[in-house]
Amino acid sequence: MGVEALKKIQEEALLAGLGIMDARAVDEWRAEWLGRKGKLGMALGLISELTASERPEFGKVGNLVKETLEGRLVAMMSSVESVEGQLDWSFPGVEPKVGHLHLTSQTIREVQNIFSELGFRRARFPEVDWDYYAFESLNMPKDHPARDDWETFFIANDKGRIKTGAKGKQVLTPHTSNAQVREMERGELPIRLINISKTYRRQSGPRHLPVFHQFEGLLIDEGVSIANLKGVVDYFVKRFFGEGVQTRLRPHHFKFTEPSFELDISCVICLGTGTVSGGKCRICKGGWLELGGAGMVHPNVLKAGGVNPKKYSGLAFGWGVERTMIMRSGVNITDIRTLYKNDLGFLEQF
Ligand code: DAH
Repeated sequence: MGVEALKKIQEEALLAGLGIMDARAVDEWRAEWLGRKGKLGMALGLISELTASERPEFGKVGNLVKETLEGRLVAMMSSVESVEGQLDWSFPGVEPKVGHLHLTSQTIREVQNIFSELGFRRARFPEVDWDYYAFESLNMPKDHPARDDWETFFIANDKGRIKTGAKGKQVLTPHTSNAQVREMERGELPIRLINISKTYRRQSGPRHLPVFHQFEGLLIDEGVSIANLKGVVDYFVKRFFGEGVQTRLRPHHFKFTEPSFELDISCVICLGTGTVSGGKCRICKGGWLELGGAGMVHPNVLKAGGVNPKKYSGLAFGWGVERTMIMRSGVNITDIRTLYKNDLGFLEQF
């Protein structure tokens, strides 16, 4: 240990002090170099190990280094003070952007809340499911032409062939009706569920998305009738679209319900009259808008789920989330794909 070591400490300390801008860093610098256990103090303490002739020079250089570093400390403290003194606390801050849920997510929550008022519990099921739950157990045997209505995506295995298991081919759920037999298999009756989920079909256009959402209701109990179906859909429609909106069950055909219906609601634009300022309403057909399918669960579907159709009956319905939300007055979206383009200018309106 000699004077060279002291000079090296000075050099390193000055280097370390360059660019220090805030009071905390100044304090740390002081502790590291000038503090009681700092590097300079420790080095000076080693004077006792030097010979008598070496000591005067070592002490002199030591004092110089100490003065230099203390001078530097004072300079750093005053420059930090003047930088902090220049902060203008009245300067407006940067306001963080506050976002909100996507219109689809808002609608999903609203639908869930409305049905929960009727005691429907939200349940979830696989979106990658087996043919059996998507079709076969819903009274649609293999190769049945009714399946063509659901333009289905299949999952391929690593050889590029459609993945197949004990319950048939693997599909991306083309509708939320796979919930029906899956829920019955859980073996708890009565059932009152709402399944809101992504659905997938090989389609794309102004009115069709390859990935969209549906909500499916299922109620199974003793003595469930069409009157109950009408009551449930009426309740939802009035809560979602407004008290003045009427419903109509129009006969239709689905393999998994008997009887089957399409649910229509009175047009929210022309208020069910079919005319707007003397001309034909451009939104609806004769005062009615089509919401989606509904019906009484087919006995074969109950049987597939292990439910005795002689004792129990059920109602079901399945509608598109995007379609339902677009039908509500005030939301006039001509191309459904706009919803998922991540255009904030569009999304922030809702
Ligand atoms: N799954 C049908 C579809 O995607 C909709 C549907 C119709 C669901 C009738 C039902 C129902 O539960 O009872 O078009």
